[in-house]
Amino acid sequence: MKRMVVVGTQWGDEGKGKITDYLAQRADVVVRYQGGNNAGHTVVFDQKKYSLHLLPSGIFNKNITNVMANGMVINPEAFAEEIKPFETFKLAISDRAHVILPYHLEIDKFNEQLRGDHKIGTTNKGIGPAYTDKASRLGMRMSTFVHPIRFKEKLMEILEPMNREMYGMGKGNLDFNTIYEKFSKYAELMRPYVCDTSLLLNELIAQDKKILFEGAQGVLLCLDHGTYPYVTSSSPTASSVPVNTGIAPWLVEGAIGVTKAYTTRVGSGPMPSEILGDLASHIRIKGNEFGTTTGRPRRIGWLDTVILRHSKRVSGLSYLAVTLLDVLTGIDELKIAVSYTLDGITIDKVPAEIEDFEKCLPNYITMPGWKEDITQVKSYEDLPENTKNYLIKLSELVGVPIGMFSVGPDRNQTIMVKEIF
Ligand code: GDP
Ligand code: IMO
Ligand code: MG
Repeated sequence: MKRMVVVGTQWGDEGKGKITDYLAQRADVVVRYQGGNNAGHTVVFDQKKYSLHLLPSGIFNKNITNVMANGMVINPEAFAEEIKPFETFKLAISDRAHVILPYHLEIDKFNEQLRGDHKIGTTNKGIGPAYTDKASRLGMRMSTFVHPIRFKEKLMEILEPMNREMYGMGKGNLDFNTIYEKFSKYAELMRPYVCDTSLLLNELIAQDKKILFEGAQGVLLCLDHGTYPYVTSSSPTASSVPVNTGIAPWLVEGAIGVTKAYTTRVGSGPMPSEILGDLASHIRIKGNEFGTTTGRPRRIGWLDTVILRHSKRVSGLSYLAVTLLDVLTGIDELKIAVSYTLDGITIDKVPAEIEDFEKCLPNYITMPGWKEDITQVKSYEDLPENTKNYLIKLSELVGVPIGMFSVGPDRNQTIMVKEIF
């Protein structure tokens, strides 16, 4: 397959960055298609660890074209900071991507305060308010932001109603000159990269280039198919790639569903297979389960195949890439959720109503664990029998073949089971 999507199948942080970086060694183009700097994608190679928030995970490979597509919301200040260490790279930013401006961050924080006990636990990066403005037709496209005159006009136009909103939130006025001067510098920095990335991608496809689409977040955080309202404000599914990049749906050939060998979640909202106590702390520490973007401890749970089948159905998954398998080493018995019980009835779906999802109790099967160190394993055949059985069971329960797995954070701790890309 020449055009594949790397999609998170759970609540984010499945290891999409690592899998994208690994597969990028075989790609010509890597495209981020939604979200913004709420994402935190970790890439480890040559004993160095990198955290990417906005830039596609192909950025370490100088020969690859990296695209930030129209479905993204981009904070220019965060972009300027993130691009700093990179000297040689090929990058294109969509002229239709939307811009995150300082008031979006203020509104995000304010909305969270208003929600009180029902707060979503957002990353406070202004993602929801920026997508809200886009949908309300009040947003600013990248094309306007990098335009020498129109940025000024549009900012002036926006700041007046925005300052009324800020006043309503009990906050001080946003000063036009301060924002304009600061952000004009970012606009200058970004201008050379801004173009019609739909045209570019279609040209690259016509040249038969290999393209990876890198999702952010995970399917259960999808605005449409996730655990609403505890979701992000875009769609990380593979099916959202065409609209978020400007290519035809039939040009997407397949999707790699990145799946942790267990489950994690950051922020609020139900998580039926959540575990608390010593075992959760053990997994959290061993798996370094602290948010890449916010540093928050991630909630830990057993593998949940109900959500994985949901992700497979709404997103389409050709293969699974199972990550963090090494973290489960040494646990005697591993549980896998195979269905839920809701009000005394067994169900095999994610309910639309969050109150129902909160009441879902997982039904588990138990698999024997393994004790052998697997961090140096180089092929599927080298895995202990119990690890193989765990992967086989996972694949059977989800109905998707295992294409890859990973046994440590480093690029070279990634194993291809099949030549999938
Ligand atoms: P993403 O948002 O999906 O890209 O994932 P994150 O980078 O936020 O979180 C995944 C975390 O797991 C990072 O700290 C990775 O370095 C780490 N990681 C990825 N794969 C493995 C693995 O197979 N084993 C271990 N121990 N860590 C891994
Ligand atoms: P990556 O790409 C994990 C979660 C937040 C919150 C909800 C809404 O690294 O997998 P937002 O700021 O998007 O409005 O927050 O979504 N969230 C993530 N959780 N990984 C992410 O990205 C996330 N991006 C957002 O914690 O619950
Ligand atoms: Mg992450």
